[in-house]
Amino acid sequence: MKIPTQGKSKDEIFTTLKNYKGDDLDWKSGRVFGYIYDPGKKVHDVLNDAYTMYLPENALDPLSFPSLLRLENEVVAMTASLLGGDDQTVGNFTSGGTESLILAVKTARDYCRAVKAHIKQPELVLPITAHASLFKACHYLGVKPVVTAVRDDTFEADVDAMRAAITDNTILLIGSAPGYAHGVVDPIADIAALAKEKDLLCHVDACVGGIHLSYMRKLGDEVPDFNLAVPGVTSLSVDLHKYGYAAKGASIILYTNKELRKYQIWACSRWTGYTVINPAVTSSKSGGPMAAAWAVLNYLGDEGYMEIVREVMAATQKFLDGISRIDGVRVLGKPNMCMFAVASTDERINVYRLADEMKKKGWYLQPQFARENSPSNLHISLNRSTVPQAEAFLEAFEATIKEMKQQQVDPEMARLQAELEKLSLDFDEETFFRLAQMAGVTGTEPPESMATVNMLLEALPYDVSEFMLTEYLNNMMVAGKTP
Ligand SMILES: Cc1ncc(COP(=O)(O)O)c(C=O)c1O
Repeated sequence: MKIPTQGKSKDEIFTTLKNYKGDDLDWKSGRVFGYIYDPGKKVHDVLNDAYTMYLPENALDPLSFPSLLRLENEVVAMTASLLGGDDQTVGNFTSGGTESLILAVKTARDYCRAVKAHIKQPELVLPITAHASLFKACHYLGVKPVVTAVRDDTFEADVDAMRAAITDNTILLIGSAPGYAHGVVDPIADIAALAKEKDLLCHVDACVGGIHLSYMRKLGDEVPDFNLAVPGVTSLSVDLHKYGYAAKGASIILYTNKELRKYQIWACSRWTGYTVINPAVTSSKSGGPMAAAWAVLNYLGDEGYMEIVREVMAATQKFLDGISRIDGVRVLGKPNMCMFAVASTDERINVYRLADEMKKKGWYLQPQFARENSPSNLHISLNRSTVPQAEAFLEAFEATIKEMKQQQVDPEMARLQAELEKLSLDFDEETFFRLAQMAGVTGTEPPESMATVNMLLEALPYDVSEFMLTEYLNNMMVAGKTP
């Protein structure tokens, strides 16, 4: 494919774009339980207008576009005041949770380079439920992730395990509020106290939950302490593009003081071009996400957010009560907000197949692999647009589970399952290709059943499954290829 010699008409372009979208998840249905945080049309229009108003402006240089500096400082101030900050709190706007977390780890690494010079191989202690982007941050920044267990049944970080994992090389402890997979808030006060006792930094990943949990608190709901006011917490990340209902490309990283934040900033004056001073990873960036985030905070206000949280939590209760009445599945742990994981209690219910069957009926649930004490499960994140779907979901979910119980287990799947259970760590290439074939992973085309693929990926050693995933994406993302 080449750039067309002659430009096309606006009509033609938008017709093509609409066609391209045909196979995308239909998030407007309210039946998609991940990826999308939909505030409804009125809020969406405000986001749209603010975003496009600032689309061309470049947040690279706050002196050239002082209004963007003002927007950033105001968004940071509003977020910090919601999340227990004080007059020493500082922070920055970033493109998302991943960028905020990369920055939190970089800041900790560079702070320790400056003040703890004995640390040559920095280590980060994180519970297994911490978000994958922290592993990415470690990989990018040459920091060793030291993974700790979570408590049986509750899936909260085990603080004793974190204590035992601390070494002379530890730079940072992580707690999540909540962890994405189970929606469970870690014992942040205990993790932060441990960090303080050991003279370590402590980051709270409140990317997904920071806004929602804060408004639950304002509504008087029980929420464990998790924010910057907790003694020992030194930084916190919170995504506005999740339960802040901002447009994507909006997260905030906060620090308790400027002394620490200075290790986040990158300046470069040693090349032939313009002076570079970047507070975050990206350099040139549209002012759109920042303006849209500023707009939504002002448009909804505390009252608007509380109304949404009240609605979403009422719906969450309906989902949880309904699921608890269905024989064959259970919710893992005690979720603290509107996201949770559902596992099977009946061997006839393979959750990955359940996800496939629900998808055929128009419902998207996110498969999550069995890791340590967390069994295979399906993740559900609720948001404003899913609220009216509680009854319809429960009906479809129960009916699908009933159908699955009545069906014979697919013999192919049973065979694959049996083989995977026998899989030893030192399996050979031949076994690998045989299993991949059984799972329907043969070429680069998407396989028919995601269930078998998920079963395979779950059972393989991490390095093998990660290698497979990399190869798959590398082959899928080929210039001009149509999915
Ligand atoms: C707890 C948590 N941290 C970090 C992230 C990464 O955020 P992003 O996808 O915006 O990079 C997520 C995403 O869901 C999350 O739930």
